[in-house]
Amino acid sequence: MELNTIERDDIGAAAENLVVPAAATRKVFVKTYGCQMNVYDSQRMTDALAADGYAATDAIGEADLVLLNTCHIREKAAEKVYSELGRIRELKAERAKTGREMLVGVAGCVAQAEGAEIIRRSPAVDLVIGPQTYHRLPGVLARARSGEKIVETDYAVEDKFEYLPQPKRAELIRRGVTAFLTVQEGCDKFCTFCVVPYTRGSEVSRPVAQIVAEAERLADAGVRELTLLGQNVNAWHGRGENGEEWGLGRLLFRLAEIPGLARLRYTTSHPRDMEDELIAAHRDLPTLMPYLHLPVQSGSDRILKAMNRRHMAKDYLTLIDRIRAARNDIALSGDFIVGFPGETEADFEATMQLVEDVNYASAFSFKYSPRPGTPGAEMSDHVPEAVKDERLQRLQALLLKQQQDFGTSLIGRTIDTLIEKPGRQAGQKVGRSPWLQPVIVDEKAGEIGDIIQVRITKTGYNSLFAELA
Ligand code: SAH
Ligand code: SF4
Ligand code: F3S
Repeated sequence: MELNTIERDDIGAAAENLVVPAAATRKVFVKTYGCQMNVYDSQRMTDALAADGYAATDAIGEADLVLLNTCHIREKAAEKVYSELGRIRELKAERAKTGREMLVGVAGCVAQAEGAEIIRRSPAVDLVIGPQTYHRLPGVLARARSGEKIVETDYAVEDKFEYLPQPKRAELIRRGVTAFLTVQEGCDKFCTFCVVPYTRGSEVSRPVAQIVAEAERLADAGVRELTLLGQNVNAWHGRGENGEEWGLGRLLFRLAEIPGLARLRYTTSHPRDMEDELIAAHRDLPTLMPYLHLPVQSGSDRILKAMNRRHMAKDYLTLIDRIRAARNDIALSGDFIVGFPGETEADFEATMQLVEDVNYASAFSFKYSPRPGTPGAEMSDHVPEAVKDERLQRLQALLLKQQQDFGTSLIGRTIDTLIEKPGRQAGQKVGRSPWLQPVIVDEKAGEIGDIIQVRITKTGYNSLFAELA
């Protein structure tokens, strides 16, 4: 099957007698929620739509197609989509008055989780498309333009990445010197709080050749820093060019050979899949940045068990010791959930203790949000909202202090910075430290894409200020 072979001369013209612009002048507005995988998917959908005659726009009012790429991870994330759809319904009605159509599509994890329910709740929606079927977008849109309401949430048997068109080199250059590349999708771990196994399906790894080819194209377009993505990225495995079974560590060594790629990262990893070779990559591969996002969720063994994380707090701490022994300047980041059902004050104290023990450079923390269809939602002993609030505040105060201490510890040090983009203020450029902090430098310090040595002079709330070393 080939993409872009759909007849599009006369499609859609019948829909409510609205004017449907010719393919070449159609515009799409994409809004992305949720994790980096959605950011990557939005780019791939934009590429598929470009090949189908849709130019991207930042102005929702002029869009012939509005596509929301949604997140279902917490209730708030999912509800945001419905309030946005309320606003879009009005825009769509306004546009119809001027005789122009506005198709509305919902993609991503809410699409997969809620399917046809979305159209029942928000009749302005024309199409619902799950993450495993994005390569079918052009066909789905052709049907939507002729007035059909479509829900496409089957798990495709074909590999969507085989069919998604590659962006033009000019477009890749426009996207800048850092890029995401999804290497693994889905999850088989079934933590009891989490919707991902249901919204993204079971674990699938992309083949080595596909990944290497995409990384080479990105490097050729000037990408210096590449972040490999997966819901469980370190569960990635594949058959290497030598016929051997590879894990993520081997893949990183292979990607480090690509000329131009100066920095590699990966996210999000699970503590149970930190294999020796991946830890060795942190020791032996200078291209692999000394930063690791390794969520633990809780420091209490009882809660970890109830969450089905399948390791204990001390396993995590031992793992951190091994990783630090391999690379002593590694900065750690994590995710935490407070107020999981049954969490007592003592359980929460264990989380605070673990945070003290690890000392994170950055972290994300959330109040537990019961998600429909997950075992956690069915558990008894839900923690009152006020208790969750209070625990989250305490945890975030500690994490923020650790983050600021980490920033402060860098003052006076000379570090590498990849210059990424112009700064918000005139005369500045923004770079990125090895530990993922934004670094503000004078615009004359270097060109975008350069990796320069800078001395850190002071810290901002979330960033570092530096001068050329
Ligand atoms: N695969 C990653 C996590 C992906 S989801 C891992 O296993 O660590 C990103 C983060 O969202 C999780 O780490 C968790 O902290 C948070 N999260 C997931 N489900 C949640 C829920 N129901 N309520 C609150 N936070 C949740
Ligand atoms: Fe969700 Fe757990 Fe899978 Fe992470 S490992 S995506 S938290 S089920
Ligand atoms: Fe959200 Fe789906 Fe990512 S639920 S966090 S967009 S995998």
